[in-house]
Amino acid sequence: MDTLGIQGRVVLVTGAASGIGLEIARTCAAEGATVHLADVADPVAEAAENLGGTAHVCDVTDPDAVRALVDGVAGSSGRLDVAFLNAGINGVPSPLQPGGAIDELSFEAWQRVLRVNLDGLFLCLQQCARVMKAQRAGSIVVTASTAGLRAEPRVSYPYVVSKAAVVGLVRQASLELARFGVRVNALAPGPVVTNIGGSAPRPASGVAAWENSIPMRRWGQAGDIAGLALLLASDASSWMTGGIHVADGGASALTQVLSEDLPGPG
Ligand SMILES: NC(=O)c1ccc[n+]([C@@H]2O[C@H](COP(=O)([O-])OP(=O)(O)OC[C@H]3O[C@@H](n4cnc5c(N)ncnc54)[C@H](O)[C@@H]3O)[C@@H](O)[C@H]2O)c1
Repeated sequence: MDTLGIQGRVVLVTGAASGIGLEIARTCAAEGATVHLADVADPVAEAAENLGGTAHVCDVTDPDAVRALVDGVAGSSGRLDVAFLNAGINGVPSPLQPGGAIDELSFEAWQRVLRVNLDGLFLCLQQCARVMKAQRAGSIVVTASTAGLRAEPRVSYPYVVSKAAVVGLVRQASLELARFGVRVNALAPGPVVTNIGGSAPRPASGVAAWENSIPMRRWGQAGDIAGLALLLASDASSWMTGGIHVADGGASALTQVLSEDLPGPG
């Protein structure tokens, strides 16, 4: 068996201009895959050039753009073997921060996050499934989050809810697509150092609080996620579908939420 080899495979990565998506694209390119990098942000062109891949500027919330993206990849490369559906946002205060409590949160902020993290994923999954069903093969890997697997007071409502919904979407799609030889799995990272909350440095107290909940005592780096992504893309995971695969430095092994992490008395 050609275990982790994805040489020559046609790979699409959404949210590929930075963070986890960029690292996944870099890893796949280094393994000899044909990589298509899609992102709403312009730096995707530079990223693709650096990796020898193809750039696609695409907003995953735009149904026509997503269809054109997937048709463009499959048309130019002849097929679509692997889709990393990774684009996502947060940038909304948590219930512990001003404006993030359930009765303070704006409907606009709620909708903004759900639109990218859930609607955008649905559109991408739908189009990739269409192509992969027809070719009767493929691996779809979605970036969920450990924040979708439990309540998480340090993360915003719409983010937690969007990622919980992503888990349901991945499981449901895996059932339907299994008989077509298409696998659907999710990555569930814990906190990873990226720009998702904005490029401003995080307050040291917040960083330390997260570290205290991670047995490995450090935040993840994008490279900590890319190996798992490669496994799920490759034939080494040929009997794995519908799974939610955690990479979080051991945080999920802890069942206790510290009361100091919860909002104080009202
Ligand atoms: N960083 C973490 O702690 C963490 C933890 C768990 C899961 N995740 C998930 O990992 C994924 C990648 O996030 P990241 O942490 O690398 O953040 P990031 O901000 O570095 O990367 C996200 C990318 O998605 C792109 N994007 C945003 N909206 C888009 C849209 N409408 N269409 C196309 N592209 C869009 C952004 O331009 C950006 O390049 C997200 O789904 C995120 O929810 C992140």
